[in-house]
Amino acid sequence: MTEMLGQLDGIRRAALDELAQIGELEGLESWRVRYLGKKSRLTGILRSLTDLPLEERRPVGSRANRVKASLQSDFLERKRLLEERHLELSLAHKSLDVTLPGRPIPRGRLHPVTQTLEEICDIFKNMGFQVLEGPEVEWDYYNFEALNIPQDHPARDMFATLWIDSGRSGGARLLRTHTSPMQIRIMETTCPPIRAIVPGRTYRYEATDATHESMFYQVEGFAVDKGVTLADLKGTLFEFCSRLFGRERRVRFRCDYFPFVEPGVEVAIECLSCSGAGCRLCGHSGWIEILGAGMVHPDILRRGDINPEVYTGFAFGLGVERIPMLRYGIDDIRLFYGNDLRFLEQF
Ligand code: PHE
Repeated sequence: MTEMLGQLDGIRRAALDELAQIGELEGLESWRVRYLGKKSRLTGILRSLTDLPLEERRPVGSRANRVKASLQSDFLERKRLLEERHLELSLAHKSLDVTLPGRPIPRGRLHPVTQTLEEICDIFKNMGFQVLEGPEVEWDYYNFEALNIPQDHPARDMFATLWIDSGRSGGARLLRTHTSPMQIRIMETTCPPIRAIVPGRTYRYEATDATHESMFYQVEGFAVDKGVTLADLKGTLFEFCSRLFGRERRVRFRCDYFPFVEPGVEVAIECLSCSGAGCRLCGHSGWIEILGAGMVHPDILRRGDINPEVYTGFAFGLGVERIPMLRYGIDDIRLFYGNDLRFLEQF
């Protein structure tokens, strides 16, 4: 028995000596097989315990088990240590340059139409206008009726309309064909002095082509106060055009007709592509129309419960897509809403 116990101590000492020599993780596994594996001497002793006389079985068995348990924990401890050292070494060898610039994170950007809208709103905000928004699904009343365009008025032909329903209670609904219905809505909730612009989507039932989309943006302008004149309208729009297109760009006012203004005007700027000489873009006229405007019709003021004998106002409606098209030489409006990144990433 003492011989067996001596053997066990010998195994333990040899195993520990060897374990202490192992400097690499790779060497650990063969050590484990040699001292703790199925064919190791220790396992052999544990298996042959049943051959021992009963009184030897217990002391030898318990010593053998203790040796096994301690070798197992020594093994794990050594493994942990080697792994730690391995990690430290590999960190020390890999040079980490903390002065390198970070990897760029791809950034989104604003859509060219959104950029233009923001620019337009900024200009008018600087001139004292507030920015309001209105519903895209509108009542016939606000889109047409209240703007002096009754049911059978020929001006309805100017607006190819997308109808939502033909009207049960409260009249017919549609997708607004312009932002002008907000003129009425603004007067219903505010009193003069009014100075507001309304950016937003508008819709027309139209075949799409290079210059027509069924959805497009407008910015409505609306100002009502005592003593507002056509000169104020002209001054405001001239200033707007020169801030947006540059001081040297010429701006033209001409008569036009819209049922809700009197008088009505049309504003055009000198063609950005040919500077007025005439080219394909401007239909060889040298001018490009960018907005409709006029003095608010007395009927409209009355409908908004504002006395036209006391107050006057002006209104304008501006097409938005036109502007980036002119500026960047974009020849097809459909590019804006085609979601092609090759197009969008240029802005
Ligand atoms: N709403 C008109 C259009 O879409 C433009 C306009 C607005 C004209 C305000 C005059 C005054 O064509």
